[in-house]
Amino acid sequence: MKSFYHDHILPYLVHHVCVHEKFGDERRKVVPRARGVVVEFGMGSGLNLPFYEASEVVSVTGIDPSAQLAQKAAARMGQADFPVRMLTGSAEKLPLEDASVDSVLSTFTLCTIPDLAAALAEARRVLKPDGALIFCEHGLAEDVSVARWQNRLNPIWKPFAGGCHLNRDIPALIRAAGFEITELDSSYMEDTPGIGGYLYRGLARPG
Ligand SMILES: C[S@@+](CC[C@H](N)C(=O)[O-])C[C@H]1O[C@@H](n2cnc3c(N)ncnc32)[C@H](O)[C@@H]1O
Repeated sequence: MKSFYHDHILPYLVHHVCVHEKFGDERRKVVPRARGVVVEFGMGSGLNLPFYEASEVVSVTGIDPSAQLAQKAAARMGQADFPVRMLTGSAEKLPLEDASVDSVLSTFTLCTIPDLAAALAEARRVLKPDGALIFCEHGLAEDVSVARWQNRLNPIWKPFAGGCHLNRDIPALIRAAGFEITELDSSYMEDTPGIGGYLYRGLARPG
């Protein structure tokens, strides 16, 4: 039952939530910042692909454990004006050389990666010294009352949402991995319940 939900229903839900235009508005703010050789954590159904600045991109390698979402990404991959490949795997273990990547992009994914510290360590390992982690992620709200509800509801939410945490302190976790956050902006996403809609957008350097 769990596997039917995870293999068939969850990928459908993830795609149909993430394709909403308000997510598109957020993608537009961060994805064009990616440059050169790009790794995208949790590429999902490839919804970021139309937002890359094609003239700035050498290649995009997506990594995601969901083969079902990769199937949904195929059409967008075919339409991209730059080479794209999708690896079925986990951001916690990147099959890439040290200091070989210019940009790691993550949108709405750091909430879900099971061992986030390991994935961020991998991002830092593969990034060139002048590379950047570019992110747009929902996480722990700064309002105490919202954060309290996020902490309460997280154990109920997580199993139904494919392991998504409502309450990860995204900037703190990025800093704990050794990155220096050089740009950071946070706000509630419009028309979204606060518990799932407090967004952190920014850029971090591997240091
Ligand atoms: C909410 S979806 C976001 C998808 C996409 N980034 C977007 O913005 O539309 C979260 C994604 O994280 C992926 N994911 C889960 N565990 C992961 C892991 N260990 N490494 C990489 N991606 C992972 C899921 O399969 C899913 O595609």
